[in-house]
Amino acid sequence: MDTLRIVGGRELRGRIVTPGAKNSCLKLLAMSIMASDECVISNVPQVTDVDTMCKLLEALGAKVSNTGPGEVRVDPTTIVSADPPDPLVRKMRASVQVLGPLLARFGEVKMPFPGGCAIGSRPIDLHLRGLSAMGAQVSEEHGYIIVRAPRLVGAEIHLDFPSVGATENLMAAACLASGTTIIRNAAREPEIVDEQNFLVRLGADIRGAGTDTIKVTGVKSLGSTNYSVMPDRIQAGTYMIAAAATRGDVTVTGVVPEHLDALAAKLAETGAAVICSEDSVRVAMGDRPVPIAVKSMPYPGFPTDLQAPIAAYLTVCRGTSTITENIFSNRFRYVDELARMGAHVGVDGRTAIIRGVNELTGARVVAPDLRAGAALVIAGLMARGETTLDGTAHILRGYDDVHGKLASCGGDVELVSDSASAAAAE
Ligand code: UD1
Repeated sequence: MDTLRIVGGRELRGRIVTPGAKNSCLKLLAMSIMASDECVISNVPQVTDVDTMCKLLEALGAKVSNTGPGEVRVDPTTIVSADPPDPLVRKMRASVQVLGPLLARFGEVKMPFPGGCAIGSRPIDLHLRGLSAMGAQVSEEHGYIIVRAPRLVGAEIHLDFPSVGATENLMAAACLASGTTIIRNAAREPEIVDEQNFLVRLGADIRGAGTDTIKVTGVKSLGSTNYSVMPDRIQAGTYMIAAAATRGDVTVTGVVPEHLDALAAKLAETGAAVICSEDSVRVAMGDRPVPIAVKSMPYPGFPTDLQAPIAAYLTVCRGTSTITENIFSNRFRYVDELARMGAHVGVDGRTAIIRGVNELTGARVVAPDLRAGAALVIAGLMARGETTLDGTAHILRGYDDVHGKLASCGGDVELVSDSASAAAAE
């Protein structure tokens, strides 16, 4: 297992270019299953979750090739199987996103329950109930979900919660159903808009993404397209927080600033200067943060994926901050690791109470999941002395070249590979 070695206390200064959004790219790759010819997807982030999705498509029979830096070509015409294999599905929660596209194309899917970050119970009942409303029969056998629908029919679906993944799966399945599907209480995340744009380019008839009502009128078949993935608002937001946390001055470029409004408002509340231009956001900070209250909410609220990173920043606030997690049940797994670095964080139900300390100190810590890992990187950058972060595989699922990007802005961060650390120990 690789390790991140971080020597804290250096201000980050410079520019960071935002890569394409993992959380959209994964779904575009999955949705390409329904295309009738090759799709070329560009601005693809170099993260391991994308590799996993590509392997999953290959395991189904698709031809997937890297045709240039950040460009992936998918030929779905060779897909023969609608049974995604167990180890790949367990590896990543987002593998469930092949369910809707496979069902729409083949009429029957058998897959194990998906895995992913251990951030609390993550059922897929909303996905399955929506597919049932469209005429699918759902059964469970020996840990597998079997969904059958020789013909999906349009339906009115009201989601109990605006689930991102359920909205995406149902939107995809509805593209090739007969009649019109209306998804109410749909997720409004920008990634859903990106996916609507992709599907429309394939020839789908969809309206409403970005609002809470999405209308999809089924078409007989979809075509093919070239498409560039939207920028990753979560990676961008993580670097904005890192800039403030190190009392630095960083411009994050290639973003859609309005995707980052909720974060920008909270950073400004802490005393940071946040300057947005057409496609970049500059964050500068010269002091310890003013304490704030943060509540994660579905978009356009504060994103749950930035809850842990902002918590790390607030560990040195001048007073007491609170963080309330409203989306997932177990997203405070970073708290014990932050405590090793001198943070004072208590958890009461869905709320973490952070009593600010003067400074953090470097320690050996472990990333328990993807965004908690990002939080520990930020804590390492802030801390006095050296931090060794294990469990980096989690971080590399969603951040590409995190060490290179931080080092380019003056951070003392190094990815030490397994073989290098073994050699050093000898
Ligand atoms: C996606 C993102 C993830 C982000 C999350 C919320 C990807 C690959 N992942 O995850 O980074 O944190 O959106 O913005 O895009 N739920 C149910 N039943 C369901 C589906 C969801 O109860 O069938 C619950 C979940 O347990 C969770 C909440 O709804 O408590 C939100 O989940 P959802 O929006 O579906 O998140 P994901 O799509 O899994």
